[in-house]
Amino acid sequence: MTAPQPKPGILDISAYVPGESRTIGNVKPIKLSSNETPLGPSPTAVAAFRAAADSLERYPDGSASALRSAIGARYGLNPDRIVCGAGSDELLNLVTSAYLGAGDEGIYTEHGFLVYPIAIRANGGTPVVAAERDFTCDVDAILDCVTDKTRIVFLANPNNPTGTYIPIKDVRRLRADLPQNVVLVLDGAYAEYVRRNDYEAGLELVATTANTVMTRTFSKIHGLAALRLGWAYCPEDIADVLNRIRGPFNVSAPAIAAGVAAISDQAHMEAAIMHNDRWLAWLTEEVSALGFKVTPSVANFLLIHFDGIAGLTAIAADDTLKGKGIILRRVAGYGLPNALRMTVGTEAENRAVVEALKEIVTRAAKDELHPQEALRK
Ligand SMILES: Cc1ncc(COP(=O)(O)O)c(C=O)c1O
Repeated sequence: MTAPQPKPGILDISAYVPGESRTIGNVKPIKLSSNETPLGPSPTAVAAFRAAADSLERYPDGSASALRSAIGARYGLNPDRIVCGAGSDELLNLVTSAYLGAGDEGIYTEHGFLVYPIAIRANGGTPVVAAERDFTCDVDAILDCVTDKTRIVFLANPNNPTGTYIPIKDVRRLRADLPQNVVLVLDGAYAEYVRRNDYEAGLELVATTANTVMTRTFSKIHGLAALRLGWAYCPEDIADVLNRIRGPFNVSAPAIAAGVAAISDQAHMEAAIMHNDRWLAWLTEEVSALGFKVTPSVANFLLIHFDGIAGLTAIAADDTLKGKGIILRRVAGYGLPNALRMTVGTEAENRAVVEALKEIVTRAAKDELHPQEALRK
């Protein structure tokens, strides 16, 4: 008898590797590897989470209606068209499994979020990669990838790990030129951070088309990554489909309670946006001044390129940073072998990274790196 075999495609998946959280030795880490917020969650969300501990024997409200109403009120949306999930990851997987099957194709961009090809392969589909231009989505390149097998297109806007975005007019053109039977998924995990007049996460497109879905998360600006909470705004028919296939209690009661509080705490969100604006600009300037190329970011992280820095590679620098307790994110899996992604941290964390990079660049220039680091050059 042969052993059980997974469905075709599954063994082609490289499991997602989360940002690291430990350093060598006993140093308390400065963890800037997963785009978490340095401000933490709203205190009202923490209080709501604690209060939920009093009723852990009860199942949650399977329709998460309080949370959908709170999100609807916050953004002026019909709660019936909102579906909540255990992180936006779950929603990305649900949309894929509902609309893409064996032999179908799903498109994502060159340096796009790695959950997309995992979801496509898990459903027997073929991931198709659209080239980017200057680390930015190229709408025409996506359209060139479309075939009669295409069922889904994923666009993280802004994208992770590049931090770049495309204006809403380009997203509209993408939607207009994609076939009607193709679901366009606009992943707005970092939407709240964007401060550009020509940006919009996709609310209007979802409201006015039958084939566009927008996903959002509570993991980033709301600081609730540990709870696993996300939401999708969908056309009516797609919401109906997702509700048929999701787990009946896919979002926990503490997550619902904390999410309601978080989405209602506008002041906390604004504080996070202001902090990010200030330190994203500061970091971009300081890191660039050290000689690194930094991709212009509108999110809460920045992509630092090591090409052109004599005697140094991203891996060597990452090893040295880890020795100092600083954890950034390697992004070789995203086709960026000589870059590191850094999340905007607290003021002290940001200053510590810049100081550490300064020292690394100086030592590399003098060829003074630790022999082990030098070997990896
Ligand atoms: C672009 C993008 N989409 C989705 C997610 C998943 O977020 P969640 O924690 O809601 O599953 C992330 C998390 O890193 C992300 O960067």
